[in-house]
Amino acid sequence: MQIFAIFYWFCLVISAKQYLFKSCEENGFCKRNIDYCRNKLQTKISNYFIEDAIEVGSEYAVISGLLTKKLPNSDVKLPFQLSFLENDNIRFTLDENRNVDLNINANRFKASEHVLPHELRLKDSTSITIHDGAEKILLLYKDFKIEVFVNETLQMTINEDKFLNLEHFRNESDNQQQLLPEESDFNMFRDNFKDSTSDKLPLGPESIGLDFNFVDFHNAYGIPEHSKGLKLEEEIYRLYNVDIFEYEVDSNLPMYGSIPFLLVSKPRLSMGLFWINSADTYINLSKPKSGAKTHWMSENGVLDFIIFFGESPAEVNKKYGEITGFPTLPQLFALGYHQCRWNYNDQKDLLEINSLFDEHQIPYDSIWLDIEYTDNKQYFTWNSNFPDPSGMLDELDLTGRNLIIIIDPHIKKGSKVSNHLQKNGLTLMNSENDTFYGHCWPGESLWVDSFNPGSQEYWDELHRLSPENKVFFDNTNIHLWNDMNEISVFDGPETSSPRDNLQYGGYEERSLHNLNGRKFHDMTYSSLSKRLESTQRQRPFVLTRSFFAGSQKSAAMWTGDNMSKWEYLKLSIPMLLNNGVAGMPFGGADVGGFFGNPSKDLLTRWYQTGIWYPFFRGHAHIDSRRREPWVPGEPYTSIIRDAINLRYTLLPEFYNAFRESSISGMPILKPLFYESQKFSKNYDIEDEFFLGNSGILVKPVTEETTKEVTIVFPDSEIYYDFTNGKISSRYHTQSVKVPVTLSDIPMVIKGGSIISRKMRYRRSSKLMNHDPYTLVVAPSSTNSASGSLYVDDYESFDYKNGSFLVANFELKNGKLTNKVTGTFNAPRRIEKILILNTHATKVEHDGASLRFKSIDGNLEIQNPGLHINEDWNIVIKKDLVHDEL
Ligand code: GLC
Repeated sequence: MQIFAIFYWFCLVISAKQYLFKSCEENGFCKRNIDYCRNKLQTKISNYFIEDAIEVGSEYAVISGLLTKKLPNSDVKLPFQLSFLENDNIRFTLDENRNVDLNINANRFKASEHVLPHELRLKDSTSITIHDGAEKILLLYKDFKIEVFVNETLQMTINEDKFLNLEHFRNESDNQQQLLPEESDFNMFRDNFKDSTSDKLPLGPESIGLDFNFVDFHNAYGIPEHSKGLKLEEEIYRLYNVDIFEYEVDSNLPMYGSIPFLLVSKPRLSMGLFWINSADTYINLSKPKSGAKTHWMSENGVLDFIIFFGESPAEVNKKYGEITGFPTLPQLFALGYHQCRWNYNDQKDLLEINSLFDEHQIPYDSIWLDIEYTDNKQYFTWNSNFPDPSGMLDELDLTGRNLIIIIDPHIKKGSKVSNHLQKNGLTLMNSENDTFYGHCWPGESLWVDSFNPGSQEYWDELHRLSPENKVFFDNTNIHLWNDMNEISVFDGPETSSPRDNLQYGGYEERSLHNLNGRKFHDMTYSSLSKRLESTQRQRPFVLTRSFFAGSQKSAAMWTGDNMSKWEYLKLSIPMLLNNGVAGMPFGGADVGGFFGNPSKDLLTRWYQTGIWYPFFRGHAHIDSRRREPWVPGEPYTSIIRDAINLRYTLLPEFYNAFRESSISGMPILKPLFYESQKFSKNYDIEDEFFLGNSGILVKPVTEETTKEVTIVFPDSEIYYDFTNGKISSRYHTQSVKVPVTLSDIPMVIKGGSIISRKMRYRRSSKLMNHDPYTLVVAPSSTNSASGSLYVDDYESFDYKNGSFLVANFELKNGKLTNKVTGTFNAPRRIEKILILNTHATKVEHDGASLRFKSIDGNLEIQNPGLHINEDWNIVIKKDLVHDEL
């Protein structure tokens, strides 16, 4: 207990950007909860009670009742519900009936209505088990302590420290009678923080808080977005979406997005905690010897959480995804390279860049236009530097390329769009229920309220493909970038909206703040998916800066305005890994760094790292120098070209990983502890990752003047060196030191994998569609391997109706086989099969010999006459000798 108390004090250390954002001690609800918990640590007496203690193991699926909050002279009754859901997830909600007559919506906001399906299925069996029949028992005590046992071992306690706190509604005039002895009244009815003093706080104090302790769990991850490492440290983390200008590395300040999902993991058991709340939230994490202790506090809303259990972290991700939705399966082009800067100046400039890629034989898939393409920052217009957007799109289309343009939620005051929004009451409102105005890129602006169904209708109209609509014409190769959607208000408190602003349904902005970014990009996704007749519809691509739980269903994210410095390159990996852990794997960081000018070495290393980002985009600030891949010159350009080519040769594996993620929620950049939970070292590694389940393990170089790197292996399988595309050494150790030059990307392939590649240079991914495959087979220590290849039309929604194909490759007992499932017509040839570390005297298919070569101890079968869409087997005869290591 001591540790908690000391830790709160310790967290008052101030970072350079802190002056803009409220620390916990400066934020009314957070300070009050901390004061409450400090006092509770002394008394340990509960203020909340239920009628009867309950032991759950068999008969109930839902338990509802009233929780009594005992005040000095009265009681408050709070309705609670504990439900046992399908998959043995546990949900708890605690609400408050407020009979308050105000001109705003006084009900507690239910974020769950925006992230959960309408109806959650309850468990249908009478027993509560998790994996392998492990039994889960939950005990609910009278003083509202919950204990969760798995296989008779205590794994989690809730409200053990008695931090449960729900600030019930009261008037300022009778506040003193409503206070518990442990409570402080700091900033309950006004806010004394710098630019927040005009907050009217019409509902007074309404925060919620609760403690969750994970017994013997020493590894906690998730709750992005923070510019910190993968494994969470003792820290107060804040989730409050803000435009954090020039963010610092290793800071606990809030950032552009938030996902209130925490994962804890140890061998044989992982657990997830989803705190379903979209208000300003702090999570205080401490790590005493007994495990991980967390204290969650939100400014308002219903207290609502779900706990997930799984044997592995991947199992927890699957259960979380089944409830909040799995990541979208993007079009293939979205996995190619994206070229962006603020800004390409005009149509000529953009088309020149387009041709320079071809001149330098570097593939890429889309070029981007930042805010300067518009007429005076009025979205849905073009300025005169772009006289023929339709012609420009047609030209890009010739090589299968796309244009991605930015549209932000702030709309210039007095523009056609703002007039419409204002006239129809579709804007964010101020506390007087009049349109709210503030400053952003266009100067004085208003904001579209994406919670309003009327906004969606109007957005659809603006995004419709029609010749009259001067933005979207009738091209399908235009997609969208939604930025500044935290929302960013330059002259607003903490760079965002005043909290007492009003949104659809009469809710204050403070209640749904962290959902605003997601609602906006969801609205865009929905409009884009309606822009063609249903039979021709293509999967929209939307990039968002702000995100929340559920964003994975419709958008990719990036880590915002980083800097051209080595430490930001390094940070990009753990940040993206944590996003993957929290169910939002389609992410990237600005390659090269947004602010500043990277050295040539840094730019090169950033490309070599960026090729592994699920979302791979080069981007730069308006003041930075041009830095397209050919700008640094030789040898850098060739090294960057090789890196981008490597990404393109591996696109089949990237697409496989996205497909897998879209049905299981699995991270695309997979941390080592997902591969094996056996070795404790795996839980600490944040500079290596697997590409999905491909078996490709990478450790990018992220430090200047690196001459050697150590690759740590997560298990005792064989690993084959793949650095620089040459497959040479085999490792069967815990770790290996490999020397590196600037052209090397340290990477290995795990024994037991079969990797699909496409080796020909094409100008874009679309032009690779019919190219033949190369299979790389990496036998395991028992001489077997497997891998699958997912193929569909790469752009439409037809895969949802079963129009796809999966080739299942397997090496076993000297036979390499393919078994196809699915119906998609993809008669793609296999031009080469490379079986590593293997000799043969004869290779046969259907009784006929196939030509093969032995090169560097590997077996190479050229043009075997096989296709990915047919079942086949080839026999590798006699000497299938796996070399002794
Ligand atoms: C924000 C974005 C950045 C963009 C700029 C101008 O700073 O994070 O990527 O270039 O706005 O739109």
